[in-house]
Amino acid sequence: MNLAAESARPPADDFTRAEEAASYLRSKTKLRPRVALVLGSGLGSFADKLTGALSIPYADIPHFPKPSAEGHAGNLVIGNLGHVSVACMQGRVHLYEGHSVRDVVFPVRALGRFGVKGLILTNAAGGINETYTQGALVVLKDHINLQGVNPLIGPNDERLGPRFLDMTQAYFRPYRQIALEHGQRLGIDIFEGVYAALYGPMYETPAEIRYLRTIGADVVGMSTVAEVIAARHIGMTVLGISCVTNMAAGILDQPINHKEVLETGERVKGKFIQLLEAILPRVEDLAGS
Ligand code: HPA
Repeated sequence: MNLAAESARPPADDFTRAEEAASYLRSKTKLRPRVALVLGSGLGSFADKLTGALSIPYADIPHFPKPSAEGHAGNLVIGNLGHVSVACMQGRVHLYEGHSVRDVVFPVRALGRFGVKGLILTNAAGGINETYTQGALVVLKDHINLQGVNPLIGPNDERLGPRFLDMTQAYFRPYRQIALEHGQRLGIDIFEGVYAALYGPMYETPAEIRYLRTIGADVVGMSTVAEVIAARHIGMTVLGISCVTNMAAGILDQPINHKEVLETGERVKGKFIQLLEAILPRVEDLAGS
């Protein structure tokens, strides 16, 4: 390699980097999933349900960031669930790990170049709405971005999407209806709510939770919104589902710990997986519409 020439070359833009990752994925599998799932804390085992699956460590995919949070394996699993091809991200990276927001959304952009049109994002969240209980699932109907950053800051690349992005239906209404219908049919404790995203990594103070409730948030977490913005930017349709792993700070007279968050995720996993299995074919039907 000519090192002088290499160092003189400007760093590749996000579109080109995403295309490089996508072309690597195309070289690894014949499957061309139209739907992708981001599996949050403790949900990675959903990918075990896939048949004919290929598991690729993020470290092998060009430009993919590597997660450090516990419960986030760091593999992209591409396989079939019944007749539906799906790409599952076992874990994501977060801003609080020190990753840039561009890195946080890189996998979404890469999956977009790979041909994914419908994106299901899952996460663990604290319950602010007092009608929720630990273990409930919340279908996101909207979000409030309090992370102080977003992935569209800087020059806009029109190959990705528009400069000024409409966010009036960030979470696709037909997907939300499908998720609620199937959740109720399966006897799952399921709600619709607004997700507030904070930077983290500390959990919130009780005063912050009172503030979040006042401004209309039902759940709080440290992920998802940057990915939703990047997904909408490239024209994907999005479904978001939170698992209420704990009631938010100050609601119960007890501290919050990560172990409890992981344990609730583990307890609810079966129901969550049943729900994802039920809705995937319907999401695929509508993906990209
Ligand atoms: N706050 C923020 N993020 C979270 C929480 C919480 O209470 N629980 C799980 N993720």
